[in-house]
Amino acid sequence: ALAGVDPSKMIIQRTQTPKELMKEEDLVFGRTFTDHMLSIEWVAGKGWSEPRITPYQNLSLDPATCVFHYGFSCFEGMKAYRTESGELRLFRPRKNMDRLSLSSARIALPSFDPDAMVECISKYVALEEKFVPKKRGYSLYLRPTMIGTQRTLGVGPPGSALFFVIASPVGPYYPSGFKAVSLEATSKFVRAWPGGTGDKKLGGNYAPCILPQQEAAKRGFHQNLWLFGEEGYVTEVGTMNLFTCWVNKEGVKEMVTAPLDGTILEGVTRDSILALAKEHLGKEGWKITERKYTIKEVADAADEGRLLEAFGAGTAAVVSPVRRIAWDGGANGVQRDINVPLPEGKEAGPIAERVWKWMEGIQYGDIKSDWSYPV
Ligand code: COI
Repeated sequence: ALAGVDPSKMIIQRTQTPKELMKEEDLVFGRTFTDHMLSIEWVAGKGWSEPRITPYQNLSLDPATCVFHYGFSCFEGMKAYRTESGELRLFRPRKNMDRLSLSSARIALPSFDPDAMVECISKYVALEEKFVPKKRGYSLYLRPTMIGTQRTLGVGPPGSALFFVIASPVGPYYPSGFKAVSLEATSKFVRAWPGGTGDKKLGGNYAPCILPQQEAAKRGFHQNLWLFGEEGYVTEVGTMNLFTCWVNKEGVKEMVTAPLDGTILEGVTRDSILALAKEHLGKEGWKITERKYTIKEVADAADEGRLLEAFGAGTAAVVSPVRRIAWDGGANGVQRDINVPLPEGKEAGPIAERVWKWMEGIQYGDIKSDWSYPV
């Protein structure tokens, strides 16, 4: 039988050169890492080796390794939080491992038992305890990654793979801090398409988005808002899903986000916000909707004074309010700005702020929830 991932077989080799902790305020997203990493090797026909925690170190791979040539790489973003009483928590880690297993299978890399993987990650986080920040808005960002490691230029299913996890103490994702961002609605480049891999967390989905992002940055925007098709459907931001709040044409308050049609990353934060919004805002007469909607609908809502808020949501970005969306107006359109209302002198609207509080309350353990996984 093929060997599964077995957390009970974990081998731990501790570092001899522990790192100094950085001050929370000095942390730049994803630039500093903890003392150790978690690795598990996989070989076709054999299965998974014993999980290993070792000092954080370089990987040594032959230049012909398939990950370098054909993009056999997928990953996750998840976080460990410290509660007020000092305990450590993961947020819905099973969802991340389910998604990674699907991403991995989509690029002919191995799938695995998600619960066993959560257990391995939990042991790893326990060992890195001192690196989990105390301050609100800060956490230990975990980056589980799967790569194909077979040494071959032949294009085919990798005969070996490596799963590893590294960890980085982080604060806000955007260098601008916890501030509202500006987006450029982009249709010239396309992030994902029906039948593509936009709903999987593949490394190859991200690299092609950097050039368009650089172009948007030259014009003063933080991120692209990816549109799809002649209709100009609003999809997502690449580093986060997008939520739009408006009073719809029927006069009902509505929170809308793009549906999971295969072109949208199935965000854990997205899913959580939908559930929380249904629970809390549903009672207040809000409609919470997953459906296709166009950038023109957003522009019309702004013009008619019906646009209330827009915010991005993701593990890294948490809740990221939007202040402005630039749009070229579509076919024969005129370049214009869609201004998203923000309360005077504030960086977030009331809905974004509440959603943020609900999420934070669960993540940092103030609110009891099944979503909070004790390490
Ligand atoms: C995350 O939210 O964790 C992401 O993966 C987005 C980005 C940092 C790649």
